[in-house]
Amino acid sequence: MERELCISKEAIQQRVEALAKEISSDYEGEEPVLIGVLNGAIFFFADLMRAIHIPTKMDFVRAASYGSDMESSGRVRLTKDIEMPIEGKPVILVEDIVDSGLTLAYLLELFEQRGASSLKICALIDKLERKEKDIIVDYCGFQIQDGFLVGYGLDCNEEYRYFPEIYRLK
Ligand code: IMP
Ligand code: MG
Repeated sequence: MERELCISKEAIQQRVEALAKEISSDYEGEEPVLIGVLNGAIFFFADLMRAIHIPTKMDFVRAASYGSDMESSGRVRLTKDIEMPIEGKPVILVEDIVDSGLTLAYLLELFEQRGASSLKICALIDKLERKEKDIIVDYCGFQIQDGFLVGYGLDCNEEYRYFPEIYRLK
């Protein structure tokens, strides 16, 4: 498929470092649990966690709201749950990209029910178009108007995740 460069490696690195700095200062004296949403957030998560200079813990969920296409199925399903108790702990959900907002709306409710002491969202990309749920991204790497993005963990039918930079499919 044809593609054009959307976010460079350097731009990603810069924003990741800035987000990590913000999180490090906001959570000074705490030990937040970073919960990554597999698979897309894998590289963002790894880079972010290593750039945060306060202690953190890691856990992961896998949620599916997309079939295998570029369109959302409208339903969210948890295919892998976290393994750590999060009751009374500050949680930061780390997501690759917020599109309809359905995935994060579902996860926010789930972790709120489980008694996280605080719950924030860190997303590499916030898509401004197509939002169905009103999700507030507390830590946002980039805002993108529209389009379908691949690379740096983001896929289209499991392809292109390995690119170190982010492209827009044409
Ligand atoms: P939402 O539930 O519609 O917000 O969808 C979120 C999930 O859909 C993300 O975690 C991605 O896995 C996937 N997704 C949404 N937009 C894109 C895109 O532009 N490229 C790749 N995956 C996307
Ligand atoms: Mg995802």
